Amino acid sequence: MEPLIRLPAPSVTGGPAVWQVLSARRSIRHYGDGPMPLEVLSQLLWSTHGITGRLGPHELRNAPSAGACYPIEVHVVVNSVFNLKPGLYRYLTEDHALMLQRSGDVGLEMERAALGQRMCSQASVMFVWTAVMPRTTARYGERGRRYVLLDAGHVGQNMYLAATATGYGCCAIGAFDDDAMNEAVGVDGVIEVVVYAASVGPLE
Ligand SMILES: Cc1cc2nc3c(=O)[nH]c(=O)nc-3n(C[C@H](O)[C@H](O)[C@H](O)COP(=O)(O)O)c2cc1C
Repeated sequence: MEPLIRLPAPSVTGGPAVWQVLSARRSIRHYGDGPMPLEVLSQLLWSTHGITGRLGPHELRNAPSAGACYPIEVHVVVNSVFNLKPGLYRYLTEDHALMLQRSGDVGLEMERAALGQRMCSQASVMFVWTAVMPRTTARYGERGRRYVLLDAGHVGQNMYLAATATGYGCCAIGAFDDDAMNEAVGVDGVIEVVVYAASVGPLE
């Protein structure tokens, strides 16, 4: 089994004002050069999935989730990050760590699965969000399917804002071939399903 790659602790103070970040947020599809520092990747993952509190047995995170079920998991496609080999990683929330699933040019596979959108292979990283459906549907039935998508939207918006705040460009990706995307990240498409993605890279 691959060892855990512990990420640097995120910064929880400072940064630009939230109003400034909201005004500046835009979908950015073309990126500059240079690998992303691990500190930035850490900040982006914490901003979207970080544990920020506890309520009894439940963890609470910086993105809200219906019933605090947290069905959304994130798979990280590394194209160009300092000290990380290119490949597909899984983010482990409790450990704030990454685990390599497989190395290689996964960005190119993502580009094909996302109907030829070049930002998938040009970005420093791509985030692919899967939903573990029963976490929410076991509690809410069919309505839970809608909740899962709303949860993913919140995570995506946090990513946009965190990328903007760190001086990076982000673009949401909803246009992809579901089967190809599920296969590329290694989920079955029934219990765990790819629901959303985003690319992040340096501004040009
Ligand atoms: C659910 C969703 C899916 C999206 N999918 C894509 C996509 O696959 N490719 C893309 O280039 N932009 C995608 N976008 C970005 C939108 O095109 C963008 O938000 C919109 O044009 C408004 O521009 P702005 O984000 O710069 O304000 C998506 C946005 C959302 C919310």
